[in-house]
Amino acid sequence: MFNETTEDASPANAHALAVHVRGVSKTFGTGEARTHALKGVDFDARLGEMLVIVGPSGCGKTTLLSVIAGTLEFDGGEIDVFNTPLHQLKPRDITEFRKRNVGFIFQQFNLIPTLNLVENVSVPLLINGVRRPAAEKKARALLEQLGLGGRENDRPTMLSGGQQQRVAIARALVHEPRMVICDEPTSALDKETGARIMELLRDIARHPDRCVIVVTHDNRVFKYADRMTEMEDGRVQRVHESLNYYDQEGEH
Ligand SMILES: Nc1ncnc2c1ncn2[C@@H]1O[C@H](COP(=O)(O)OP(=O)(O)O)[C@@H](O)[C@H]1O
Ligand SMILES: [Mg+2]
Repeated sequence: MFNETTEDASPANAHALAVHVRGVSKTFGTGEARTHALKGVDFDARLGEMLVIVGPSGCGKTTLLSVIAGTLEFDGGEIDVFNTPLHQLKPRDITEFRKRNVGFIFQQFNLIPTLNLVENVSVPLLINGVRRPAAEKKARALLEQLGLGGRENDRPTMLSGGQQQRVAIARALVHEPRMVICDEPTSALDKETGARIMELLRDIARHPDRCVIVVTHDNRVFKYADRMTEMEDGRVQRVHESLNYYDQEGEH
């Protein structure tokens, strides 16, 4: 279902870019423990697309998502997100940019255990200056939409893994960020819930000024993608365009 392309990110390219990464490197640790997680990675995500990233464990997928989202500093290279050069911003300005523009669904959910579900999902609105009653109203509506109506006042620890993941998804979407980044978003979800969430993400990606980037091993997700990027050993190795993915449901 995916055809390989030689992707050209020059300004002449017909597709406007949401994310443009050039030669980005990132190492963790020092001496013997030093790990070169990103080795001069080049990567693009277009406006209005859902992009899937695949690759073996440890190849740098989570690290790449984290530097794009502005949650992790990188050592060298350039990252533009919606034409904002992250490599030129001060940490405080990156935080501000992330707050407004990025929704991140973490592999480990990262929910706040002392807050109930409504409070957890309200956080991105509150830090963007929305008043609590309006924030909680919106959070409740989204929890309901994701099948968690009636659980609003529960703490995350009272929920199953799949339910916690849906709360993490609600929290990433509630402030309607231009970029949604998901690290394995369907891993703990049953088939039906996973499909519902992928449809929600695809609808978000259909906005011409937004994009959705999903890291996954789950081949049920591939049919929702516009393109697929393959990573290997700290770099992007291949980019695939998807063709007629609606016609090929169930064939992957
Ligand atoms: N905080 C960290 N400290 C030390 N090493 C790390 C850290 N995060 C990731 N790494 C290492 O960087 C490499 C890439 O990790 P990661 O981006 O998590 O890969 P993936 O998400 O593709 O499984 C791995 O070798 C991993 O062990
Ligand atoms: Mg990972």
